[in-house]
Amino acid sequence: MKYGFFDDNNKEYVITTPKTPLPWINYLGCKDFFTLLSNTCGGYTFYKDAKLLRMTRYRYNDTTPDTNGKYFYIKDGDTIWNPGWQPTKTELDSYECRHGIGYSKFTGTKNDVEAALVTFVPVNDPVELTKVTLTNKGAAKKDIQLFSYVEWCLWNADDDMKNFQRNLSIGEVEVVDSTIYHKTEYRERRNHYAVYSVNSKIDGFETSRDEFRGAYNGPDKPAAVIEGKLHNTIASGWYPIASHQINVSLEAGESKTFVFALGYVENAEDDKWEAPSVINKKKAIALLSKYQTVEAFDLALAELCSYWDGLLAKFHIESKDEHVNRMVNIWNQYQCMVTFNMSRSASYYESGIGRGMGFRDSCQDLLGFVHLIPDRARERIIDIASTQFQDGSAYHQYQPLTKKGNSDIGSGFNDDPLWLIAGTSAYIRETGDTSILNETVPYDNDMSVATSLMEHLKRSFDYIVNHKGPHDLPLIGRADWNDCLNLNCFSEHPGESFQCFGPSEGPVAESVFIAGMFVKYGREYADLCKLMGDNAEADRALAEVDKMIKAIEKDGWDGEWFVRAYDAYSHKVGSKECDEGQIYIEPQGMCVMAGVGVDDGNAVKALDSVKEKLDTKYGVMILQPAYTRYHLELGEISSYPPGYKENAGIFCHNNPWISIAETCIGRGDRAFEVYKKTCPSYIEDISEIHRTEPYVYSQMVAGADAKFHGEAKNSWLTGTAAWTFTNISQYILGIYPTLEGLSVNPCTPAEFGDFSVTRVYRGVTYNIEIKNPNKVQKGVASLLVDGKEVEGNIIPFDGSKKTVSVVATMK
Ligand code: BGC
Ligand code: NOJ
Repeated sequence: MKYGFFDDNNKEYVITTPKTPLPWINYLGCKDFFTLLSNTCGGYTFYKDAKLLRMTRYRYNDTTPDTNGKYFYIKDGDTIWNPGWQPTKTELDSYECRHGIGYSKFTGTKNDVEAALVTFVPVNDPVELTKVTLTNKGAAKKDIQLFSYVEWCLWNADDDMKNFQRNLSIGEVEVVDSTIYHKTEYRERRNHYAVYSVNSKIDGFETSRDEFRGAYNGPDKPAAVIEGKLHNTIASGWYPIASHQINVSLEAGESKTFVFALGYVENAEDDKWEAPSVINKKKAIALLSKYQTVEAFDLALAELCSYWDGLLAKFHIESKDEHVNRMVNIWNQYQCMVTFNMSRSASYYESGIGRGMGFRDSCQDLLGFVHLIPDRARERIIDIASTQFQDGSAYHQYQPLTKKGNSDIGSGFNDDPLWLIAGTSAYIRETGDTSILNETVPYDNDMSVATSLMEHLKRSFDYIVNHKGPHDLPLIGRADWNDCLNLNCFSEHPGESFQCFGPSEGPVAESVFIAGMFVKYGREYADLCKLMGDNAEADRALAEVDKMIKAIEKDGWDGEWFVRAYDAYSHKVGSKECDEGQIYIEPQGMCVMAGVGVDDGNAVKALDSVKEKLDTKYGVMILQPAYTRYHLELGEISSYPPGYKENAGIFCHNNPWISIAETCIGRGDRAFEVYKKTCPSYIEDISEIHRTEPYVYSQMVAGADAKFHGEAKNSWLTGTAAWTFTNISQYILGIYPTLEGLSVNPCTPAEFGDFSVTRVYRGVTYNIEIKNPNKVQKGVASLLVDGKEVEGNIIPFDGSKKTVSVVATMK
């Protein structure tokens, strides 16, 4: 069952009922100022950091779900309604929500009044703009009232929901004409305030939530709206809000339009006040004055759309498969941008107050983002590397505003260092910009011990070399990619964090997954060394990689698949010897992607085992059989009920690893089959089962053991976005950036047909046609570059050209 449809021409998903199984959200904002916005107008806004600079309040786990947002109420006689249905939930005569790329549109009608909202954040200003158009569709004149509503968050979102003894006394606002200023804490350590304004005269305002709603009413029954009159209260403490009242008369057929602006303003320390206790409003006024007209609004929206058109044009496919076209050209790239911006901090499943930017998460996000805005990827790599420790290990997370490592969680996740190599290598393969390797980058933000980025990569590599266990496999530390495989924690008491409890490093527990990563990214490290002319270091690295391959072959192979790990007692994890959790997906994907087993047939065996033991119609599960009891020696993984999350859920993130691994052994049919199973557009018509947004990936789909098999959770912020884009664009469609140039080596299903790709790479536009006359799954017979036959798969890079046409014919 569907709750809407894709409108590919407009790059929108159109939701046709507000009653979606879960809130289906969108993200507004490209750089610093962000809004999460659901299909019923729920959500919130923050500047740069969802924890430290939260502008509006949202309540996770609220009694009525998703009822805090930026609302517009319309009072038409005794009927009060919202164009997005929530929070009054008055039945609408019609409803539509269009989530587009960086904007959303809502149209609701009730009793002959149509309210159309368009909302977005301009490319370069810290402001959310909403155009509200009210139209009288009936034959008689209408006198109605429009009320806006936002609830301010007192900036620190964590403190805001805990520290009531303080918070209820500190709220402060100012109101001038149609602009409401939220200035809580501005008198002390803050130099920023928020504004909410409208480009017209108002008939009243409210800044006290209790006055607006009445002390015991919810947002569905705001007393002042029912009364039809705001009371012009200046809030003092308690719960500051911002609401405007505009009385609107509409002749039959007439429309009136208003532009609302919710902005963030920062002042210099010595320029904070215009008079004692009166905030300096100059910058707010300047910001708001830019968006006083519908023309200015429309222009800024057009700018946003062309900004996005430019970005998405960097990879564009035309094939006969509309799902692939839509996901690759629009939604998958869009989700890559969102995960790059948010890491795992703010979504409807991540509260924005916990994890900031994840080290491994952000490194992997780069893989799907780097082609969009390489300069921002470059900056991000330096930020991430700056949180590395001198021994090559790293803070597992850092806060986006301070860019400092998060000491609550600390380090000890032994896969982290290698992901830095992965991200940096992706950046250099994309851009050719080796200058980044010579940048001077601190350790733990301490410039006095800074070295080149290249030295950081060396220390990443050596961290693994220097931290091996009894089988010469990498020590796992607190956890590797699988945060829930906690082999050194032995957590017995509720409330202990699985990830920070116990020693971060045990001398015994080892990870075959990290071993696979080491082979893959160790080779990429060696390639970078060669590129920089350090052949000796490249040779040293490759020798270490060879040792690791031997260790995997000796102790990481279980007969039919790769072992997952060794626990603190040196017992196998993910082996046929285990009673539960006999096979895990991660080492099968990672080892084969690294090329381990490709020549000796083990790769085929491992991937066949995956198909036989882990496959379901909704995707490939992370492990089988599920853990049915808590295993003290394994940790969080066995804390989840069977089928959920890391305990035998379909963890979408590593499905593309299997798909990529299949391309490494040339099985395009199977690679694509795996791709399709979790691909949102392919499963749109089971939205009642899948439940999360049909236009983006979710972290997890419940596995075969779960009660709700097929149901997804944790949409949007997941490494799945970057990895599926990497999979489809670089491995299945086969347009892979190497250090020397673009390589063309597709691995598609036999029936996929011919296709063409436009790829902007290092400033050159490649128009690539791929022909598959004999319906093979892999192998390029000839590559014509601007009409000339080229040996091999790589298009030699020539920066003097603007466009290059390429014809690749498969065997
Ligand atoms: C989840 C993991 C997540 C981790 C991060 C765990 O509870 O299951 O998926 O990575 O928390 O904090
Ligand atoms: C989500 C985390 O963000 C990611 O870092 C981790 O790899 C997966 N969970 C698997 O545990």
